[in-house]
Amino acid sequence: MKKNPIVEITVRSEFAAAHRLHARELSDEENARLFGPCNNKNGHGHNYDLFVTVRGPVDPVTGMVMNLFDLHTIVKEHIFDVVDHKHLDEDLDILGGRTSTAENLALVFWDIVEAQLGRFAGVELAKIRIHESRGNIVEYCGA
Ligand code: NI
Repeated sequence: MKKNPIVEITVRSEFAAAHRLHARELSDEENARLFGPCNNKNGHGHNYDLFVTVRGPVDPVTGMVMNLFDLHTIVKEHIFDVVDHKHLDEDLDILGGRTSTAENLALVFWDIVEAQLGRFAGVELAKIRIHESRGNIVEYCGA
């Protein structure tokens, strides 16, 4: 076995949310052209599939990078409970006015999770992966 291996662990969380793709900087016509049906005035919904991956050394006593239960709890309390069954643009201010693309959601979720990992020594956030639909997938690795 490799010495001091670094292992990634992932938790998955599904949530339902509505949103509207609409860039404030663009005109109504430009938004309609750019986003098509996703610019629908009253929004539309997705069943989002969120994967949060952290990495770190395997604790020789517990055999774990971190307790998956703790990572599930972070995602549930700080993301799922905030966004599930909400309109991402109308009900929440987590995006700070930015367009509610999966890219921007990944950036916001990154900051949310990273802020909770400080108490887990040696554990760092590795990836936020969002499946907005079966065919549309966004990943952010902190760059
Ligand atoms: Ni959409």
